[in-house]
Amino acid sequence: MLTPSIEGNMSNTFTDQLIDESKIASAVDYLCSGNLVAFPTETVYGLGADASNEKALQKLYAVKGRPAAHPVIVHLFSAEQMQDWAVELSDYAKRLAQHFWPGPLTLIVKKSAHVSPLVTGGQPTIGLRVPGHPIALALLKAFAGGIAAPSANTYGRVSSTCAQHVREEFADQVSLIIDGGSCPVGIESTIVDTTALIPRILRPGIISEKEILECLGLDGLPIHDHIAKADEGYIRVPGSDKTHYAPRTPMLLLNKNLIESTLDRAQSGVSFAILVLSKLDLDGNTKAKTLVRKTIQASQDPKLYAHDLYSNLRHLDSSKATTILVESVPQSGEWRAVSDRLNRAASRS
Ligand code: TXA
Ligand code: MG
Repeated sequence: MLTPSIEGNMSNTFTDQLIDESKIASAVDYLCSGNLVAFPTETVYGLGADASNEKALQKLYAVKGRPAAHPVIVHLFSAEQMQDWAVELSDYAKRLAQHFWPGPLTLIVKKSAHVSPLVTGGQPTIGLRVPGHPIALALLKAFAGGIAAPSANTYGRVSSTCAQHVREEFADQVSLIIDGGSCPVGIESTIVDTTALIPRILRPGIISEKEILECLGLDGLPIHDHIAKADEGYIRVPGSDKTHYAPRTPMLLLNKNLIESTLDRAQSGVSFAILVLSKLDLDGNTKAKTLVRKTIQASQDPKLYAHDLYSNLRHLDSSKATTILVESVPQSGEWRAVSDRLNRAASRS
């Protein structure tokens, strides 16, 4: 299997990867009979159900432990299928779909009348995405309908970026887990609400605000303000709940100096698992050394950092330290999506 690259056109990243057709066929059988199938996308693994089957959707919400009012994204094989799920598509929504699909972008559009309120959380809108992963696309093509798929993690927890994470989350509650290796992007899709006159980013992701504005010829328009509105409950986006993507261990987001002084001042009984951007020098600090169970030095490249983020958080979580310390990341635009996830993961503490 190829080691996925996260550069360039997502749909070309895995061209050599073999698709197991018999797995795809049994996944389709499970979906058609109302069961759940986990599958890889280029962002994170999805926990999929037939988006037209209310019983399957109920099962999906129950297994994920997700409140019924939170909508799920419907995954499609091609942008042409948008017509089956949405009405009154704006020109700019079509343009974004054409430019970024298949890829890590979700578009919020007005829903068609037949769409179950279980998909939309009772809202008049629906989230649609054509993922850029060959296994997801093979599954969607063979299924031929919409697959409702939230990230394959229990509600509020760290998303899954490899099949083993999905097994840890759901054990045997899922009929089939299609193993596609590690997800090349590593964090969830950028979500853009396209139902108003101008686009609104509801969740930052690897496709940046700048790329979206450039695609639409809107450079310079401050659409990011709407993320704040989403946080205030303006629109229901669970990723915009303050606590989300959280490890089980309490997590603090601190700058490097504060991490060092926290280690210096720590009382006995506490222990730490640490994620830093640059080397943490514990040589000569014997006390700190005994308190630190695990240290991970992450990449200083925001895309590589994002790729490893959830896997790193899971490793830190499994170290059984009493506290996770994460070095805060730069505030520049290219770190925006990572910073968003870290802030939410830390807000439980
Ligand atoms: O990358 C992704 O988007 C992954 C993969 C599996 O596609 N999926 C994912 O799904 O992250 P989930 O359910 O964990 O997050 C989807 C987000 C939620 O925050 C949900 O509220 C929002 O999309 N969403 C879905 N439909 C919506 C709607 N009609 N209006 C506003 N937000 C919506
Ligand atoms: Mg999620």
